[in-house]
Amino acid sequence: MGGKGFDWLRQTGTETLRPFLFTIKGTCGTRSGRGWKGFYPMDNPILVTGGAGFIGSNFILQWLRQETGGVINFDKLTYAGNLRNLASIATDARYQFVHGDIVDRDFVREVLQRHQPSAIVHFAAESHVDRSIHCADDFIRTNIEGTFVMLEEARAYWANLAAAGRERFRFLHVSTDEVYGSLGPGEPGFCETTAYAPNSPYAASKAASDHLVRAYHHTHGLPTLTTNCSNNYGPYQFPEKLIPLTIVNARRGKPLPVYGDGLNVRDWLYVEDHCEAIRAVLSRGKVGETYNIGGDTEKTNLEIVETVCSAMDELKGDAQLFPHKKLVIFVKDRSGHDRRYAMDASKIKRELGWAPRETFESGMRKTISWFLENDEWVREVTSGQYREWMSTHYALEP
Ligand SMILES: NC(=O)c1ccc[n+]([C@@H]2O[C@H](COP(=O)([O-])OP(=O)(O)OC[C@H]3O[C@@H](n4cnc5c(N)ncnc54)[C@H](O)[C@@H]3O)[C@@H](O)[C@H]2O)c1
Repeated sequence: MGGKGFDWLRQTGTETLRPFLFTIKGTCGTRSGRGWKGFYPMDNPILVTGGAGFIGSNFILQWLRQETGGVINFDKLTYAGNLRNLASIATDARYQFVHGDIVDRDFVREVLQRHQPSAIVHFAAESHVDRSIHCADDFIRTNIEGTFVMLEEARAYWANLAAAGRERFRFLHVSTDEVYGSLGPGEPGFCETTAYAPNSPYAASKAASDHLVRAYHHTHGLPTLTTNCSNNYGPYQFPEKLIPLTIVNARRGKPLPVYGDGLNVRDWLYVEDHCEAIRAVLSRGKVGETYNIGGDTEKTNLEIVETVCSAMDELKGDAQLFPHKKLVIFVKDRSGHDRRYAMDASKIKRELGWAPRETFESGMRKTISWFLENDEWVREVTSGQYREWMSTHYALEP
């Protein structure tokens, strides 16, 4: 953003605006710029919760490329939130970061009042099944209580909007296919009317949040939309999840852990395709409806790991690591591991004209290249260094 915008901001006399300077040292050199924390007026931005996470940051980057409106990114910056993902737009006048917790009701209210968003796209969640098995407290707190707070405050905010604003407002809740439980071999994919049967604490917390969203539409008329999507992969995914973990470990010659017999099946979708689907639902979805999103790409975990290994072999890096498949180790299965997920995405295709652009092959090529080209991002994330980076450059608590 140019200096002009900043001068204008100062002239508004917005007390809570806190400008800051940042320097980002990256593989492509060092960038410096100015950003801001706090509040300044934007014309009907959307409010994105969890925008510093994997899908949220891809969504914001795509939004600013494809849409004209602004974005407020409201994020607590847990271990999964990384503002480095958004460094390229940190000074864009259409983007603003607000550091906060969705469970903090007073602050959520203040943010809605200040920014007057035309829509909320709610990504913020604890998202890793394994972590929910280890300790579910944060999943209950953020995914259930946090969604409740967002709904309550959105309802109050929406009720007080003028007629045109009320008509336009949407609350889009981003959810998962895991709420539907596990499929047997040959069973048809989950559709929007499949009964919920969540099996992990993560899935149960997301199912509870979906039900709350449904109830706020049914009872209060809040204009909600819900999307349930299959497994995503792509740039900026935290390397605790299967695909980035496998790429990162294969590159370093570390073991490639595969749960159980490796035959659990997931339906994989490139993250940019998911973001496009969310934009389609936000602009054309029917209020109160749910849309299932998937890639029609069922793969076993073992197939995923083997795909990464073959790609790494072709890249002809360190010959000592060939074939990368020899790094695969089978580890004790995850407790209650769902066997198969598959999505029937025919409703969103039929009604909103959405279809994924990437095939599994093209999406995986892009993903592997991104991780190999962004070694510094990987090193920072895996070493926890990015938290120091944020504390230095954004003056945030690590
Ligand atoms: N990753 C997938 O494959 C997938 C698939 C379908 C649906 N989803 C859903 O999409 C959403 C985003 O998933 P993701 O993979 O990007 O998750 P992620 O874990 O990468 O990011 C979550 C983000 O939410 C933020 N956050 C967490 N708790 C918060 C709180 N209390 N207040 C404010 N911000 C908070 C984190 O800091 C982080 O930036 C989640 O709701 C998830 O359930 C994910």
